[in-house]
Amino acid sequence: TVLVVDFGAQYAQLIARRVREARVYSEIVPSSMPVDEMLAKNPKAIILSGGPSSVYEAGAPQLDRAIFEAGVPVFGMCYGFQLMAVSLGGQVDNTGAREYGRTPLAVSKAGSTLFEGTPENQSVWMSHGDACSAAPEGFTVTASTNVVPVAAFENDEKKLYGVQYHPEVMHSTHGQQILEHFLYRGAGLAPTWTTGNIVEEQIAAIREQVGDKRAICGLSGGVDSAVAAALVQKAIGSQLTCVYVDHGLMRKGETEQVEKDFVAATGVQLKVVDAQERFLTALAGVSDPETKRKIIGREFIRVFEQAQLEILQEDGPAVAFLVQGTLYPDVVESGGGTGTANIKSHHNVGGLPDDIEFELVEPLRQLFKDEVRMVGQELGLPDEIVQRQPFPGPGLGIRIVGEVTKERLDLLREADAIARHELTAAGLDREIWQCPVVLLADVRSVGVQGDGRTYGHPIVLRPVSSEDAMTADWTRMPYEVLARISTRITNEVPEVNRVVLDCTSKPPGTIEWE
Ligand code: XMP
Repeated sequence: TVLVVDFGAQYAQLIARRVREARVYSEIVPSSMPVDEMLAKNPKAIILSGGPSSVYEAGAPQLDRAIFEAGVPVFGMCYGFQLMAVSLGGQVDNTGAREYGRTPLAVSKAGSTLFEGTPENQSVWMSHGDACSAAPEGFTVTASTNVVPVAAFENDEKKLYGVQYHPEVMHSTHGQQILEHFLYRGAGLAPTWTTGNIVEEQIAAIREQVGDKRAICGLSGGVDSAVAAALVQKAIGSQLTCVYVDHGLMRKGETEQVEKDFVAATGVQLKVVDAQERFLTALAGVSDPETKRKIIGREFIRVFEQAQLEILQEDGPAVAFLVQGTLYPDVVESGGGTGTANIKSHHNVGGLPDDIEFELVEPLRQLFKDEVRMVGQELGLPDEIVQRQPFPGPGLGIRIVGEVTKERLDLLREADAIARHELTAAGLDREIWQCPVVLLADVRSVGVQGDGRTYGHPIVLRPVSSEDAMTADWTRMPYEVLARISTRITNEVPEVNRVVLDCTSKPPGTIEWE
């Protein structure tokens, strides 16, 4: 394991991902963790992340210098670099000379473990106020910038390395190479961590956890629950039952994908609950977005728990486990660290006995989204499921502005299917994070089609580019593709006579319309 010590901000997750891209397993620990606890994890290397503070600020996170004396290779980046410099007797000054953004770096190559084979002049991403003016004793300065005399240093004998910049971001042109040099050359690690390993490890862990009991998994049609279910299926086979609630708010073909393709690829036992009527009835007459969300959430839980109850009553071993597709970013963000799942999920709604407790099985807890996709591929899941873009739990229910009815859902499904088909055909699925297609059911406008005037509804296209859905920008997609989608939707979907493009970033707009 490589430990990534998190000094705040969002850098640690990115570093952990980059380490894994180098096929070395990594884990994030908070900088507040005592150093002996970190060392007790027996790390093969440690990376100190950047952070928002200045090393001289009151309350800035510190680190016991014992971490540099344990014989474990350490790589400090940005804040981690400055902390290393100060701890080991170097000089860091608050010069007022700030560097921010893309910066030219001059490498002084001689004897450099990190920079070997990279150009003398390269572009790196800087973000700092303080600057290192003298490296600690025993360290060689390996790079500088116009502003910072010591932008990188190393002590090969002690296996300590540091750079002032952020090698983990793509703007640092040789960042990944330098990180790999640290891992392979500095720390002597081999690139052996693969999705195949993850699958094997997780299968063993799931078997051990579940034993001869049974488990239930709710499938949503999304990537995470599908991959989690496929992994658990591989581990315990018929001891797993999956539940899919068909609320009638899915897009065209999605329910069939779960019912047919997913089952064919995994052999999973699937219980499909057709609850379309129930959801439509509950949503009748409702147009307020929050009310819709609440109704959909409430009905979903009721239907799911009813299905659970039925499974519990079947003959067979006790059902003790609930499978969930929790990912590593959720674990890190909730401060959960690396412990195994021991959270109890209480279910006392919908007629379940009060004393039923499920233990969670969360086989994706160590993984980032892109790794989940690779595991899905490894498990032989169809691309349509593994490469699926995010889709909200309340489904098309929150993409109809106005009341949700069967007719409107069918109409939106057609328009959405056309947009998705054309976006895929144009090769835009990766560039576009997701593209909600929204029906403005309460808006009508005048049009002319064929021989007559029409008075139909507009469809909104909302293509966005994003890294994590927290912020987003509207995607500047080719006019020809927009034109094709517009022509096809207005020709093929009755009642729709206008297609409009949402060119709003987030903020101020959210990605969804409701
Ligand atoms: P917004 O609209 O808040 O959406 O910018 C951010 C991301 O979250 C998705 N989304 C949801 N996902 N349940 C979900 O599982 C929901 O209720 C929900 N609402 C929004 C949305 O598609 C986007 O990716």
